[in-house]
Amino acid sequence: MNASAQPYEKKARFTMNATQSPQTKTTPRTHFGFQEVPLNDKAKKVADVFDSVADRYDVMNDLLSAGMHRLWKRFAVARSGVGPGDRVLDIAGGTGDLALAFARRVGASGQVVLTDVNHAMLARGRDRLLDKGCPLPVGQCDAENLPFKEESFDCVSVSFGLRNMTHKDRALSEMRRVLKPGGRLLVLEFSQIHKALAPFYDLYSFKVIPRLGQWIAGDAESYRYLAESIRMHPNQEGLKQLMESVGFQQVEYFNLTFGVVALHRAWKL
Ligand SMILES: C[S@@+](CC[C@H](N)C(=O)[O-])C[C@H]1O[C@@H](n2cnc3c(N)ncnc32)[C@H](O)[C@@H]1O
Repeated sequence: MNASAQPYEKKARFTMNATQSPQTKTTPRTHFGFQEVPLNDKAKKVADVFDSVADRYDVMNDLLSAGMHRLWKRFAVARSGVGPGDRVLDIAGGTGDLALAFARRVGASGQVVLTDVNHAMLARGRDRLLDKGCPLPVGQCDAENLPFKEESFDCVSVSFGLRNMTHKDRALSEMRRVLKPGGRLLVLEFSQIHKALAPFYDLYSFKVIPRLGQWIAGDAESYRYLAESIRMHPNQEGLKQLMESVGFQQVEYFNLTFGVVALHRAWKL
């Protein structure tokens, strides 16, 4: 959990306890941003967020990151080791940025599969790839239950998707299952920013981002969730340990933009 977010987390926990009924104590619960919700409700809430933002997803990505998400993704692809003939699975691929970049690398002898659990995001991804002259196989599926045989892919990627998943360990295990021995996993995700910058980042995340969300996409709530979900995601070391706990080896990470984002790379050996 990110230390930089503690004041917000405390506030969120206080709100939860104040509204908790005896019944909720026995229902398995998880976090959705700073809210605590029944475990079974999280996927639906995440789906609502991405149904709402799908139309404006790309423009908001450019705006909120000042275009930096393109550089972060370029870095991830450059560290992937993916080359001609490889099979790549992009999970939670949304509008297809990574899938497109991988498709250019694997060439005609390779294959990239774009997947996402959300139909609205995936439809935008599919159309965008078609517009760019890059038709790829596309599949709607939950990362926690992948419809692929074991040892099918040389590389699996997930960018800015893992933190939305209810059971991250289950999703990571599935990613490992479908990787070939010697294959690698790339997880690009928001992480823990350098301490010195945390106050500015908090201000930007909780004051500016929801307002921009309201202004451009007509939806402040989804963008508040974005900021909150980043604070609830494991930090660099926490994610590394989680990846190791499901059997990944040689896990390493690269901090990008002072830790705003980290790329984790790991092998199935
Ligand atoms: C922030 S978007 C990232 C899209 C794209 N990878 C990118 O980097 O621009 C997060 C994506 O994760 C997807 N997602 C959330 N939970 C998922 C799950 N359990 N399985 C597969 N995809 C999921 C959402 O539908 C959404 O498209």
